[in-house]
Amino acid sequence: MKTPLIDIIAGARPNFMKIAPIIRALDARSAEGGLLRYRLVHTGQHYDASMSGDFFVQLGIPEPDVNLEVGSGTQAEQTSAIMVSYEKLLLAQRSDLCLVVGDVTSTMACSITAQKLCVPVAHVEGGIRSGDWTMPEEINRMVTDAITNYFFTTSEIANQNLRRSGVSDERIFFVGNTMIDSLLANMDRLRAPAFWSVMGLEAGQYMVVTLHRPANVDGVDQLLAMLLAIGNNCRNLPVVFPVHPRTAKSLRGLDGLPDSIKLVEPQPYLEFNYLVKHAKAVITDSGGVTEETTVMGVPCMTLRDTTERPETVTIGTNELIGTEPARLKPAMDKLFAGQWKTGGIPEKWDGRAGERIVKALHHLLC
Ligand code: UD1
Repeated sequence: MKTPLIDIIAGARPNFMKIAPIIRALDARSAEGGLLRYRLVHTGQHYDASMSGDFFVQLGIPEPDVNLEVGSGTQAEQTSAIMVSYEKLLLAQRSDLCLVVGDVTSTMACSITAQKLCVPVAHVEGGIRSGDWTMPEEINRMVTDAITNYFFTTSEIANQNLRRSGVSDERIFFVGNTMIDSLLANMDRLRAPAFWSVMGLEAGQYMVVTLHRPANVDGVDQLLAMLLAIGNNCRNLPVVFPVHPRTAKSLRGLDGLPDSIKLVEPQPYLEFNYLVKHAKAVITDSGGVTEETTVMGVPCMTLRDTTERPETVTIGTNELIGTEPARLKPAMDKLFAGQWKTGGIPEKWDGRAGERIVKALHHLLC
């Protein structure tokens, strides 16, 4: 029998920590005689060392077998460029399964391309929904899930969303969270960034901010208002702000940032999670960061009105603050009064999702 070939698709920063444990589990299984091959396809949606290359090195991900090198562009430009390039690859050498992760443009573009060539699709982190159609990620999730064959899910809520849309139980594999696999596997390797001592940071005596959603950062007034509200309520603690390239464009030439806001480059994986682990609290509009703060037990304020990861709120340390800057003060008052919830860990976020996925893949393909 021919050894089945899986395409593993990765395109943007939050994909890399999700594919690493799957690749590790596939390699471990191969070493024991497992019968699956993979081809690692980087779409090139993110391409800077700080957004891509550093993550491959730190997470021990092998060099991609193929890089589609699509680069920056609008949603439609990136989607179409990825589809054209990935179609050429599949026509030159077909795979037996296209495995996509998360909700970025690359996830949707590759699923459509594969399914149109009758290559089945598996979606890691399938089934989650924010209900907010203004987010490109929500459209990516809905389109991808509409044409996915096998779903590897992170929560019972995701399973329910899928069942409600007519997906049968045989196609749903509740495996846990690969992002948390990466976090737990690297917890002992986390390390302070070089600026830690230069800035005089101390555990529990600083905050971390990340902002990159178009709704928060594309309008300069909204971004400044958020940062002023943070600066006015942070009790003079330093607020470390690793700046995403999209956000950097808006910050360029912006005057009047509070002194407590410390702008730094996007951080590599080990340094970023060190900062999060030791922070007093994190303020973010990222979804993945709310999962990491939940597992590390760090208070988290999400500057969005919705979340596709409700378990980080109902079980974890996350609270939805919304996008209105005035909502930050009461949340920060609660934090500094020592009244933030402690939270727990969602089911199966135990570091073994990658192994469960690879076991299911053998069952499905071999
Ligand atoms: C993408 C994902 C988002 C994810 C985020 C993490 C989609 C729809 N969104 O958003 O879900 O949370 O990545 O970072 O896929 N840029 C660089 N260097 C790079 C990559 C991008 O300078 O290596 C610049 C681009 O030119 C662009 C901006 O950053 O101006 C945004 O990049 P893009 O890939 O369009 O989307 P993100 O906002 O990063």
